Amino acid sequence: MGARRGRRIFGLSSRCGSAITLADVKETERASVSILVGSRGRGSNMAAIVEATRAGRVPAKVQCVVAPASDVPAVAVAEGLGVPVAVVPPGEGYGERLVAALAGSEWVCLAGFTRLLPDEVLRRFPRRVLNIHPSLLPKFGGKGMYGIRVHEAVVAAGEMESGCTVHYVTEHYDEGEVVLQMRCPVMPDDTPASLAERVLAVEHQAYPEALRRVLNEQPS
Ligand code: GRF
Repeated sequence: MGARRGRRIFGLSSRCGSAITLADVKETERASVSILVGSRGRGSNMAAIVEATRAGRVPAKVQCVVAPASDVPAVAVAEGLGVPVAVVPPGEGYGERLVAALAGSEWVCLAGFTRLLPDEVLRRFPRRVLNIHPSLLPKFGGKGMYGIRVHEAVVAAGEMESGCTVHYVTEHYDEGEVVLQMRCPVMPDDTPASLAERVLAVEHQAYPEALRRVLNEQPS
């Protein structure tokens, strides 16, 4: 935490965040992160990041979870964790509305967000958006490759190992510099579902660790 002292904090006002006071000065040493979840997201990676920040393993504070609708499963998980939620449905002006909901954030983590991220968000957060994908990219990535489809393809290809990739987000699906990959075996009797379960457990280790690494690389 000490290494982060003096790091420039921008955009302290937030739709989701509470006002930062002098009494909370330590809070200002933590990077402000928002997490974008998708309509299919269960919120398990989001929860893993929140828990890692609260346990002090990642020098960040999750400011807000942004969801496309109030009834997506990740919203209930966020509320259960006491994390503020903003609902931003896709449609007209989606990019601008996302940027507004993300005001005050320094980093954005996608977790179960399967759309291409609008340009407005990428321009507002250059090299500040991460995603996690449930395969060892560049294998089994790209448009339409999400959820169980990824694991079906891995099993069908007879891969001996799989895992997950945390990478910077670009205007293309599942591209962008890799921050971290974590591997796990594919067992001979694996089904896509059993492999998905093993990879998800690895994801919960990988995403907080990747966030910790990129935050520690930032100049203080
Ligand atoms: C994860 O498998 C992640 O790799 C992918 O979407 C899934 C989200 O799962 N991008 P969860 O909502 O975090 O449980």
